[in-house]
Amino acid sequence: MTLRLGVLVSGGGTNLQSILDAVRAGALDAEVRLVLSNRPKAGGLERARAAGVPALAISHRRFETREAFDAALVEALREHGVEWVALAGFMRVLTPTFLRAFPGRVVNIHPALLPAFPGVEAQHQAWDYGVKVAGCTVHFVDEGVDTGPILGQVAVPVLDDDDAERLRLRILAEEHALYPRVLQWLAEGRVVREGRRTRLAPEG
Ligand code: GAR
Repeated sequence: MTLRLGVLVSGGGTNLQSILDAVRAGALDAEVRLVLSNRPKAGGLERARAAGVPALAISHRRFETREAFDAALVEALREHGVEWVALAGFMRVLTPTFLRAFPGRVVNIHPALLPAFPGVEAQHQAWDYGVKVAGCTVHFVDEGVDTGPILGQVAVPVLDDDDAERLRLRILAEEHALYPRVLQWLAEGRVVREGRRTRLAPEG
């Protein structure tokens, strides 16, 4: 099944780029129908336009409530025929208004091995804590902050000569490999969800 995907970004959009590249390379059976950002200047919007994908900014500042903002996002995504939503550095917490519109079909990438270090600047939280193993997680989005069922994780060792920025970049490189891979599992319909646990059905 081809994933009719909407991608939500707030920043530079390197994860979005990895999705667009995987689609172009034939490694991900998806069609990115719309890229949405809450920040008009997000680099991700430029990346979308460069790839010929519709890109739209909807500033959360225009709305009085989170629900009203989320309803506007849902409307735009529906207008573009989006069925699955990938958060790629989207820095707003989604409300049930949004999640109910795409039940079980919203995923996120987080730059830490959840449930450690949820929230913002997770790589820096991990660095400051002094962990020996950092990493990234792709998970279903639920109503909590970075609490949904885990789809995939990659560990990244912290090296003795690391600094926070080098660690962030090595985690980011793994994000770029992990996110398209997990999305492809979803496109193949291979993800089996059992409560909090997910597993991957065999290919074919
Ligand atoms: C990525 O590291 C992503 O995991 C993180 O923001 C960065 C976005 O980079 N997301 C979060 O922290 C979500 N809580 P990008 O715009 O270059 O993809």
